[in-house]
Amino acid sequence: MKQQDIDRIAASLDALECKTLKEVEEARVRFLGKKGEITALFEEFRTVDRDQKAIFGRLLNELKQKAQARIEELKGKAADEGSSDGPKIDLSMPGDPYELGSRHPVSIVRQEIVDIFRKFGYDVAEGPEIEDDYHVFEALNFPANHPARDMQDTFFVSAGHLNPLLLRTHTSSVQVRTMEKMPVPIRVICPGRVFRNEAISARAHCIFHQVEGLYIDENVSFADLKQAILLFAREMFGPDTQIRMRPSYFPFTEPSAEVDVSCNICHGKGCNICKGTGWLEILGCGMVDPNVLEASGIDSKRYSGFAFGMGLERIAMLKWRVNDLRHYFENDMRFLREFAAAPEV
Ligand code: DAH
Repeated sequence: MKQQDIDRIAASLDALECKTLKEVEEARVRFLGKKGEITALFEEFRTVDRDQKAIFGRLLNELKQKAQARIEELKGKAADEGSSDGPKIDLSMPGDPYELGSRHPVSIVRQEIVDIFRKFGYDVAEGPEIEDDYHVFEALNFPANHPARDMQDTFFVSAGHLNPLLLRTHTSSVQVRTMEKMPVPIRVICPGRVFRNEAISARAHCIFHQVEGLYIDENVSFADLKQAILLFAREMFGPDTQIRMRPSYFPFTEPSAEVDVSCNICHGKGCNICKGTGWLEILGCGMVDPNVLEASGIDSKRYSGFAFGMGLERIAMLKWRVNDLRHYFENDMRFLREFAAAPEV
């Protein structure tokens, strides 16, 4: 073994140029591969005289380390140059899909109800969620000490004076606002959020949604109310749906009724959803009390009208058989995804 052989290989390592990773790999094989030049020197090392072994051993190890370092250096350079050709990404790969949201069941039902009444010629009217006592109670013929005004039911924003601000407890307040500003005939429906000071349970919540309806014209009769509700019920729950009206009481309607639809699950036979009765309650309604018309400046001798109000969560519960009101407000994705396939309405 000669010193010159080692020096010659070291010089050619210094002079080495590689443009591509493939050339780097070829250089590695040339020097360090099984039949490479440096590997060959290690073979030859076996025959070196004993007294020279220490020197040549050190030189050979240094040479091998130099070669490895040089190859790594060239590899890095070639990779950098390769990357200047453009980003190493596959532009033909499919993109990451966006997670699409879907309508909330309460929104789906509200839209469906609005669409049905639009077909009957109703406009949509809205009013404020923070209301005053006058529009929520007084103008709707609630007696001064009616329990609905009680602190236990109503969230007051400012208490104490004559017409306190409060969170509306029903959308019937929008009836009053509409009568105040629209000329008769009036035909509106009013979807909106309402608030009641209730303990939260499967059947009650402090926030929920209602849709109110109001129709005022000359000669509006209870028969018109019945027909409007029947048509609505058949659009909403299917063409075979029956309705029944039970006498009831609301301060702002006279006479008043509660409406049941025939149970679309057992078709009147009785099941656990309708609690064996064959009927499901969906709304309250009645003929607008003359006091209510007069309070908003409408001549009750000339005009009459009907009103109705229903809870959206309740309708959605009947439609999809949801058994706990709290699901609507918790935004649990497992619940919300159940409605992803519901048709766009
Ligand atoms: N406002 C009533 C409630 O929240 C529902 C209601 C009943 C509305 C009868 C009406 C009606 O317009 O005529 O319980």
